[in-house]
Amino acid sequence: MTTYKEFHARSIADRDAFWAEQARLIDWHTPPTATLDYSRPPFAKWFVGGTTNLCHNAIDRHLATRGDQAALIYISTETGEEKTYTFSQLYREVNRFAGILKGQGVGRGDRVLIYMPMIPEATFAMLACARIGAIHSVVFGGFASVSLATRIDDAQPKLIVSADAGSRAGKPVPYKHLLDEAIKLAQHPPQKVVMVNRGMAEMPLVAGRDLDYGRLRGEHMNDEVPCEWLESSEPSYILYTSGTTGKPKGVQRDTGGYAVALATSMPQIFCCHPGETFFCTSDIGWVVGHSYIVYGPLLAGCATILYEGTPLRPDAGIWWSIVEKYKPTSMFSSPTAVRVLKKHDPALLKKYDLSSLRLLFLAGEPLDEPTARWISDGLGKPIIDNYWQTETGWPILAIPRGIEALESRFGSPGVPSAGYDVRIFSEVDGSEVGNNQKGVVAIEGPLPPGCMTTVWGDDERFVKTYWNSVPNRMVYSTFDWGIRDDDGYFFILGRTDDVINVAGHRLGTREIEESISSHANIAEVAVVGVADQLKGQVAIAFAVVKDPARIATPELRRAHEGDVMKTVDSQLGAVARPARVHFVTVLPKTRSGKLLRRSLQALAEGRDPGDLTTIEDPTALDQIRAALSF
Ligand code: PRX
Repeated sequence: MTTYKEFHARSIADRDAFWAEQARLIDWHTPPTATLDYSRPPFAKWFVGGTTNLCHNAIDRHLATRGDQAALIYISTETGEEKTYTFSQLYREVNRFAGILKGQGVGRGDRVLIYMPMIPEATFAMLACARIGAIHSVVFGGFASVSLATRIDDAQPKLIVSADAGSRAGKPVPYKHLLDEAIKLAQHPPQKVVMVNRGMAEMPLVAGRDLDYGRLRGEHMNDEVPCEWLESSEPSYILYTSGTTGKPKGVQRDTGGYAVALATSMPQIFCCHPGETFFCTSDIGWVVGHSYIVYGPLLAGCATILYEGTPLRPDAGIWWSIVEKYKPTSMFSSPTAVRVLKKHDPALLKKYDLSSLRLLFLAGEPLDEPTARWISDGLGKPIIDNYWQTETGWPILAIPRGIEALESRFGSPGVPSAGYDVRIFSEVDGSEVGNNQKGVVAIEGPLPPGCMTTVWGDDERFVKTYWNSVPNRMVYSTFDWGIRDDDGYFFILGRTDDVINVAGHRLGTREIEESISSHANIAEVAVVGVADQLKGQVAIAFAVVKDPARIATPELRRAHEGDVMKTVDSQLGAVARPARVHFVTVLPKTRSGKLLRRSLQALAEGRDPGDLTTIEDPTALDQIRAALSF
C-alpha cells in the first residue's frame, strides 16, 4: 500500500513516470511520444504527440463491456420526466448530434456555444462537439443577454445550441428572447442556431439561421460519425469565468491532459468505479458540471445523474429519494445546497435507504463546520470538502481516500492532489511563508494535467494574470488566501481579488458594476461581496445617482433599487443581482481616486473599516453607515 505522502511526493519528484502511468487509464489512438513538454513555461503540454478523443473515451470504449448499462440518468422534477440512456443509446444520440453539427459545416477547431437548461440534449451536444473536435463553450442557462453576447464575441461560435426554455421551481424560464437579444448585441453572430423545443415557451425561428433540433435529429437518425483523433494539446472546450476585470476569461482546456486527470480523480478522489453511479447536483454551465456531471463519470465507465430541479421540490427529501432509487455510490454538491436543506425537516435525511452512498463531496465555497456536521450526522456518511477552480478543472485539495483514508479536518479541504505542488507565499515579497501563516495560495509550474492551458485567444493575459501576480515568482496564483498547518492540511481563507462567491457561483464584482453603471440614472457604483448566512456571500451595491429627485422619498428609493436590479437581471441574469442597492452621494475613495473596497466590505459586514488615513472625504463613510442602517 502506498501512503498519501509517498503517492504525492512521487507525483512531483518523478512527475513524468507518474503521469505516464496515469495516462494508461484512457485509450490513445496513438500513444504520446513524451509525457510533458515544458520548454515554454508556464505553458505545459501534456502527453505530446498522443492522439485521443474525449467522446471515444466517455462512450465508445465502454460499448463492448457495458453497452447496455446506464450511462446518463436524466431526472427532472421540473417536468416530471425521468429517462435512462444506456451507453449504446447515448452513443446513438451523440452520433445523431454530431451528424447535425457536421451537416451544418461545423468541424475540428470550430466553436459551438451551448446555452441550455439541464436536459439530456445539452450533454449530447457537448459530447458531439468532443466527437468531431469542435470546441464547446457552455454558458450557464441563468446568464442573460449581455453576459451571453460577451461570450459569443470572445469565442466567435459558428453555431449555437439552445432550447426554448429552462424551468425553475415549476415555472418556465424562456431562453429564446435572451438569445436573440444577445445575437443582436454581438459583433460576431453565429451562422446557425439549433433550437431544442421542449414545448415550454415560444421560440420563433429566424429564417435562414435557426433550425429545429427535432426535425434535424429525424434527418440524422442513422448517422455514424467517426471520432476525430485530436493531438493531446488541442482544445476540448472553453469555459468563461470571472476575474478582476469586467471581461470574463475564457479558460481553455486541452484534450488528453483533461481526460487523464479526470480518469485519475474518479477512483483516487471520488472513489467511484466502473459500473457505479455518480450523482453531482451542479449545473453543466459550471466547471463542476463539466468535470463531474459529464466527462469524469463517463470516462470512468460510471453512470451519471443529470438532475433538473431544485433541492426542495416536491420536498427537501428529493435528492435522498433519488439516491434510494438510483443507488449512486458518490454524491457531489455544494455547501449552499446543504445550508438550504438545513432549514427543512432533518427527518428527511433518514427517510430513504441511502445504503449505496459512501461519500458526499462538497466544493465551490468554504464549508463551515456546523453545516458539515449537520449533513454528516444526518446522513451518517463522511463529508469530503474539496477545493478547486474553473481554471484547474479538478480538485487541487481534497482527501484522496482512494489512495489513503486520511482523516478530514473541519475547515480544511485537505491536502494537495496528485501533481499539485501547492505553496503559500507572502503577497509582499513573494517569500514562502511558514506553516500556520497566512499568504497567497499558489502552485509551482507546471500545472498538472487537466488544468487550463491558456486564456482563449490571449496567451499574454494567461501569463500576466495568473503567473505574474506573486512578486518575484513565476507561480500560478489561485487568488485565494490560505494557510497550511504542521501536518500539511490547507485552509482557504477567501479571495485576494474582487471575485465573490454567491451560493457557490463565482461572480466578478466589476461585471456587476459595469451592468449597474449602464443604468441611465447611475453616475458611479461600487459592488462588494458581503458575508451571508445562507449563500456564503451576497453582492451589495453602493450607487451614486445622477438625478437625486428619483430617490427623494423612501418609496421612490425602493422603486429605484428595484429598477437597478432589473437592469442587472436583464443584462447578466438574476444570478448576478445584488441583494441590496444602497444610494449615497459619494463613494469612499483615496486621494488618488482608488475605491476603498475593503473598507466598504468591512462596514457592510459590521467590521472595523481599517486604515482610513488616505481617504479623500471622511463623510463618505458616514453615508455608507447611514445607508446600511437605513
Ligand atoms: O475561492 C475559491 C472558492 O471558489 C473559487 C473557485 O470557484 P470556481 O472557479 O467557480 O470553481 C469551483 C470549483 C469547485 C476558489 O478560488 N472555493 C472553491 N472550493 C472551495 C472554495 N473555497 C473554500 N473551500 C472550498 N472547498
